[in-house]
Amino acid sequence: MNTYDDKAVLSATALAKQVELHGESITILASASLTVARGESVAIVGASGSGKSTLLSLLAGLDIPSEGEVMLLGRPLSELDEDQRAALRRDRVGFVFQNFQLLAQLSALENVMLPLELAGRRDAVQVATQMLTRVGLAHRLKHYPRHLSGGEQQRVALARAFVIHPPLLFADEPTGNLDPVHGRQIIDLLFQLNAEEGTALVLVTHDNELAGRCDAIYRLVDGTLVGAGR
Ligand SMILES: Nc1ncnc2c1ncn2[C@@H]1O[C@H](COP(=O)(O)OP(=O)(O)OP(=O)(O)O)[C@@H](O)[C@H]1O
Ligand SMILES: [Mg+2]
Repeated sequence: MNTYDDKAVLSATALAKQVELHGESITILASASLTVARGESVAIVGASGSGKSTLLSLLAGLDIPSEGEVMLLGRPLSELDEDQRAALRRDRVGFVFQNFQLLAQLSALENVMLPLELAGRRDAVQVATQMLTRVGLAHRLKHYPRHLSGGEQQRVALARAFVIHPPLLFADEPTGNLDPVHGRQIIDLLFQLNAEEGTALVLVTHDNELAGRCDAIYRLVDGTLVGAGR
């Protein structure tokens, strides 16, 4: 049973990650706790190497913590195996990356159809076309990623992430490869979709404008989460 609806879509309790390096154990994340409510937007900020991507990987179940627990959409990740975690992400979680990560051999339309086809949807063409229209790319359906600008590629990535109506979306530096003008457009679109869809956002960013528009800001300093400002 999913009981997250009236609570958090995501919560982490005392998450820690140690790695062995040259026979020595080093802590790259120490006892991080956070909660993300339904529809809430949360920024995770911090210097390079402070542990932001590490935390995101743990929250998304892409990596296993040394200590602590993550509840993702009502499921304790420690009780799921790798395949179950992958299925939960595929069906319920959106991802957006700094370098877009579109499939190069698929057109914009085919990239957005993919999550629908994985879900067995027979109306993938229509639904993906509608989603690309929503992000302003109705005139670029047949383009391959190499023929799209960075901003356009990130719009396709947003369409791909939102097309399954995920309750939660993770993004790691979504504006990191874009100039300020196109970065701004992507931020506007992200928050528009967040508002329209009620999708909770967890955004790792160096971008102060992006962080400033979130409901909460968590800061990482050398692997320690130093608190949330709201
Ligand atoms: N598997 C690993 N083994 C050893 N050290 C690691 C490993 N993964 C990450 N680290 C170290 O942990 C620290 C945090 O890395 P992480 O990638 O989470 O930082 P980040 O905050 O995302 O940085 P950036 O802003 O540059 O992306 C870094 O010092 C990194 O070198
Ligand atoms: Mg990183």
